[in-house]
Amino acid sequence: MKLGKNELCWCGSGKKYKKCHLDFDERLEELRLKGCLVPPHSMIKNQQQIDAIRESGIINTALLDEVTKTIHEGMSTEEIDDLVYEFTMSHGATPAPLGYEGFPKSCCTSVNNEVCHGIPSRNVVLREGDIVNVDVTTIYHGYFSDASRMFCIGKISEEAEKIVRVAKECLEAGISAVRPWGHLGDIGAAIQARAEQDGCSIVRDIGGHGVGIEMHEDPYVCHVGEAGTGLILAPGMVFTIEPMVNLGTQKFFIDKKNGWTVYTKDGKLSAQWEHTLVVTETGIEILTH
Ligand code: MF3
Ligand code: CO
Ligand code: CO
Repeated sequence: MKLGKNELCWCGSGKKYKKCHLDFDERLEELRLKGCLVPPHSMIKNQQQIDAIRESGIINTALLDEVTKTIHEGMSTEEIDDLVYEFTMSHGATPAPLGYEGFPKSCCTSVNNEVCHGIPSRNVVLREGDIVNVDVTTIYHGYFSDASRMFCIGKISEEAEKIVRVAKECLEAGISAVRPWGHLGDIGAAIQARAEQDGCSIVRDIGGHGVGIEMHEDPYVCHVGEAGTGLILAPGMVFTIEPMVNLGTQKFFIDKKNGWTVYTKDGKLSAQWEHTLVVTETGIEILTH
């Protein structure tokens, strides 16, 4: 079923198809005929949706800035969670993790050998030398944004400093690899190369994701891969990049008792940074800056 030039565009912009996604669809069709895997329309956000995700991202970023200012030695991860809940609610927003598939808290706090999905607890008190990831997802007016940062408590070891730095550079390398009409595999390839350059490993099977209308949408964003392969990255796609980088083996296991916390198999350090971004006509915009 083809849309007439003067009919309303499928994206919901309220504009005529010819003034909106007609050229876009022609370009996608060309790529599809060449054998490329192209995104379905359900992965493409319109300008109003992108603007709303940006608003959500502004609160999410302010929240991470607040955590940055407040986090200190002797603070429990539950106190971080309290801050996340209070800050988010007081801005008219909701913390997406709370109650998500039974998750009991408002954010994830993953310390040292924890890869991700650590559950805030009053029994986990930050000590000098710890590295901790705080991952926050905000819902504002129904729109989701998702980002995380690493925090270093007091003086940390050289190894800890290295994994935090390499993980950050992996995220930056992944973001730099995103091009409108490029491939999803470009992202994983860039991240993997950056990690391996310093002998670090990348966690597989947990990755980035589409985001915006829900916390986790398609596509799955793999942090390893081959350039020039995989789904085409088209303007209007909104997703996260969030490489989990390990000092030792990439292998992990999940806490049997709580069903959430992911740990490195060898007990070595892991670090992660995350941003939400949108592919634009000319490049990208980070929505959680
Ligand atoms: N924010 C996480 C992500 O980056 C998702 C957390 S889901 C939770 O995808 F339930 F563990 F909070
Ligand atoms: Co995410
Ligand atoms: Co996240």
